[in-house]
Amino acid sequence: MDTQQTTLHFQSLKQGADAYIKRRNQRLLANHRKELRNFTRAEASAYLSIDAKTLDKYVKAAEIDPRRHEDSQWSIDIMEMYQVRDLLPEALRRESKFVRNTHQSAQVVVIQNQKGGVGKTVSAATIASGLSIEFHQEYRVGLIDMDGQATLSMYYAPEADQEGNLSVGDLIMRNFDLDDGETFEQAVSDAFLETTIPNLRVLPAAQSDRAIEGWFHEQVFNQKLLSPYSLLAEIIDVVKNDFDIIIIDTPPSLGYATYNAYFAATSVVFPLSITENDIDATCSYFSYIPQVWALLANADHEGYDFMKILLTNHRDSSTTTELMNSLYEHFAPYLYSKEFKHSEAIRQASSLLSTVFDMSKSEYPKTKSTFQIAQQNGYEVTSQIQRDLLNVWREQEHA
Ligand SMILES: Nc1ncnc2c1ncn2[C@@H]1O[C@H](COP(=O)(O)OP(=O)(O)OP(=O)(O)O)[C@@H](O)[C@H]1O
Ligand SMILES: [Mg+2]
Repeated sequence: MDTQQTTLHFQSLKQGADAYIKRRNQRLLANHRKELRNFTRAEASAYLSIDAKTLDKYVKAAEIDPRRHEDSQWSIDIMEMYQVRDLLPEALRRESKFVRNTHQSAQVVVIQNQKGGVGKTVSAATIASGLSIEFHQEYRVGLIDMDGQATLSMYYAPEADQEGNLSVGDLIMRNFDLDDGETFEQAVSDAFLETTIPNLRVLPAAQSDRAIEGWFHEQVFNQKLLSPYSLLAEIIDVVKNDFDIIIIDTPPSLGYATYNAYFAATSVVFPLSITENDIDATCSYFSYIPQVWALLANADHEGYDFMKILLTNHRDSSTTTELMNSLYEHFAPYLYSKEFKHSEAIRQASSLLSTVFDMSKSEYPKTKSTFQIAQQNGYEVTSQIQRDLLNVWREQEHA
């Protein structure tokens, strides 16, 4: 073989792959167009913690007809749910809306592990949707997909690759022209797309974001970037008043994309799935991590508010217990006590490009009890992160 032939083979692989991805995405979009989460009357009253009669009163006040659907079953979607909640008097609302004061800053949590397939993306999506929906404080949550594989973007921005939408890579590489009169700030803000959850917006990755590592190398080599780790932080800085919490999903690698995510973050969560292989790989990563931090500190990162390990894909077995025991021996202060459990419902929901918070139990197509258990576990997992975030805000308030 010669270089020309090899080039042709790679071109042919590319053509095959592009055609495959296009067909797959078309099929996914056609079959799984994501619906808004719907609530039955019982689910709505449980969600708001009000009795059914009170619910009816406020649904009526919001001028919503819950029986307008073809099957005339009572149901309201999540957008309507938020309208109803907005009408509730403070005394009936489970929590008041969160309003940051001037001492409290937007918190940016990076989800990272250099090991692939440990549950980074599922955790990022679950935590972001959980923080948005399950807590009635209505945090304004942003989700950033720093992984050129763009898996996370398929959850909340399946049409992100369409013309006119900018990806995080486009923003970093300045791969766009401003419209007449448009500012950079507007372009950044518009790039955070609306999702099926009212208080969650996503800055997607596009397939073209795979070029990002090459772009960084070229810029650094040509000495065009003085500070190659701060580009994502600069983008987040533009929208920091639009969000309370930003969650960043990262690729399973330690390239510029990951360093930018680390640099922009104020806290870190390391998902770690409990298998011997994944623990070995993660320990190798942790033994290298002081060198990662040295580069970030050298670039003037101020340090993280919290750093936690989230055990994922947890299955009950004696091997798991043994592995957990040795993890506790070495990492106890860093481990979240609630593991993200392995669940068929998580797997099933993720094949529908959804988390367990994107649908109600009544909408889950398979065993409802499995779904309910997964939703409860997702809530517990998310609560631990919420508690850490609240702690940081509390400290900032009293600083
Ligand atoms: N709690 C869980 N229960 C069942 N399946 C899970 C769970 N968490 C993750 N998975 C499955 O494991 C696989 C890997 O998860 P995920 O894509 O989140 O990992 P990742 O760390 O983001 O991978 P990558 O390194 O490639 O980005 C997915 O198919 C996902 O559906
Ligand atoms: Mg991933």
